[in-house]
Amino acid sequence: MPEELDDDFETLLRYLRDARGFDFTGYKRTSLMRRVRHRMEQIGFEEYSEYLDHLQASSDEFASLFNTILINVTTFYRDPDAWEVLRTIVIPQLLAQRGPDDPIRVWSAGCATGQEAYSLAMLLADAVGPESFRQRVKIYATDVDEDALAAARQASYDAKAVENIPAEHLSRFFDQDGTRYVFSKELRRAVIFGRNDLVQDAPISRIDLLVCRNTLMYLNAETQRRVLGRLHFALAPHGILFLGHAEMLLSHSDRFAPFDLKNRLFRKVTDERSAPARMPSETLAESVHDLPGVSNLRELAFRHTPVAQVVLTGDETVALINQHAESLFGLSARDVGRLLRDLELSYRPVELRGYVEQAKVERRSSRIRDVEWLQHGGQALWLEIHVNPLIDAGNGLVGVSVAFFDVSTTRALLDKVEETNKQLENAYEELQSTNEELETTNEELQSTVEELETTNEELQSTNEELETMNEELQSTNDELHEINGALGDKTVELTQAQEFFDSILDSAAVGIIVVDRDMRVTVWNRATVELWGVTDTEARGRQLLALDIGLPTAQLRPLIGNALVDENYSDSIRLDAINRRGRAVRVLIRCSPFKVHDREIRGAMLLIHPDSD
Ligand SMILES: C[S@@+](CC[C@H](N)C(=O)[O-])C[C@H]1O[C@@H](n2cnc3c(N)ncnc32)[C@H](O)[C@@H]1O
Repeated sequence: MPEELDDDFETLLRYLRDARGFDFTGYKRTSLMRRVRHRMEQIGFEEYSEYLDHLQASSDEFASLFNTILINVTTFYRDPDAWEVLRTIVIPQLLAQRGPDDPIRVWSAGCATGQEAYSLAMLLADAVGPESFRQRVKIYATDVDEDALAAARQASYDAKAVENIPAEHLSRFFDQDGTRYVFSKELRRAVIFGRNDLVQDAPISRIDLLVCRNTLMYLNAETQRRVLGRLHFALAPHGILFLGHAEMLLSHSDRFAPFDLKNRLFRKVTDERSAPARMPSETLAESVHDLPGVSNLRELAFRHTPVAQVVLTGDETVALINQHAESLFGLSARDVGRLLRDLELSYRPVELRGYVEQAKVERRSSRIRDVEWLQHGGQALWLEIHVNPLIDAGNGLVGVSVAFFDVSTTRALLDKVEETNKQLENAYEELQSTNEELETTNEELQSTVEELETTNEELQSTNEELETMNEELQSTNDELHEINGALGDKTVELTQAQEFFDSILDSAAVGIIVVDRDMRVTVWNRATVELWGVTDTEARGRQLLALDIGLPTAQLRPLIGNALVDENYSDSIRLDAINRRGRAVRVLIRCSPFKVHDREIRGAMLLIHPDSD
């Protein structure tokens, strides 16, 4: 059944073929489209045309698409029953047909990650022994998928991959490396991996056993036919082809004959010709030839036989024509005695003279199949023509018989059977490839689940870390609360001390001024405010000597200078000044260092008394 093609999808396939060198146009569309769609969904595309733009823009996307399309599902000894027949029947027969030193050439085509090639190596090593294996056996293992080939070359598998291998084989042919099983280096040397595209590349030749399993089923009928032509060429005479269990070859019986159909083992068919027809035995001929009227009987039997037949003499003169041949080809008794080459029959419906010549010279029979003959009235007949040399008892050639069998009904039936077979084969292959896709999807899901589990574990541990941090923060918070409380208490204490200190200053009857080392006012008590009329806020932070008050502050400079350098200094000065009311006053000012902890001079302190003298 022809597949329906989607224009955008076909454009995409042509792009892959022309720009990226990989031709998927010969692959079955249903599976191929599902795989491409799968990739598109992964990265959020809906339309093939948009995805094509993306493919053209991104250099990495082709590799991802390629990996999604090619299904690499495989196992060691996949379909064990078939491998058992290979081990017990095919390989022993193959070895029996060869000399003890003859090379044995095997090809695993579409080998994926190598399990099939290594399975073959184990069976052959068992069959011929390790020494002979090393000298005689070559296993070519090919695939289009470079990533799969790279894994195959490593020859290292996890425990799940080797679970199909019998324990005895596993321990004999594998070395364990941690959790991995590595195929024996000794046998590994006989396996040669390489890239080969079955659809486009030339096949390997003189192959005794060709294993091409679960790969053809992804190709459409026409491409399968071409690839099978190559596989036929690749096989040595009598070589065996081993296919996957969904691949039946029902419609290729001209090139491959079943060896064990159930297990999909086929033998290469080579064109062998049949033996010449001989006269019946002398005894039979002699015993009847004297019966009365027998020649008349023979004549009548020949005339009325239901198969059209013409008999020629050794020099190709028409000797006999039966009734059926007369009506089929418009011949008559007048044509008897004429040379074959003078009749239309010599070249229509088929060029007969070559076959007649061959029958005479090589004394071989020929069968000409699938000859179409259009009868008067336009109805088509399908004929199978047998050309047989007629050889007498003394081995002399007496003529040639040409018989025309009407195989129209058989052919119609065969066509029907072939059509049904094709549909069956197709459906079976589709089923198998869908199954493999599902296995891949399952593996993908499995790894997504594993990733989610890992993420979950990570989240769980992040959560635990957060909980721990939270607890730590909580206790830091509690500590801060305590510190804060303590600070509050200290602040209250400090405020109280400050108030106390301010009260002392403000209660003093003398003016108190404290300046820092830059002579900026730091203390300015109430009595000072009363004297000079400048508020505490106005005075604080300003240079004492720059304040505009009624006191000649410049005269204080030497005293303050001394107090700033001499911790034991104390001196006084009388000054005439103007108080805030504008009245002249005389003040006595005592100046001493302002010390902290009784040592460090932080500034100078001035005590201002009204001078009563
Ligand atoms: C499902 S696996 C079969 C592996 C193995 N033969 C088995 O039966 O276990 C199909 C393999 O065919 C390969 N393949 C697909 N198209 C191919 C082609 N045109 N030429 C060679 N190998 C191809 C794929 O890359 C994949 O590794």
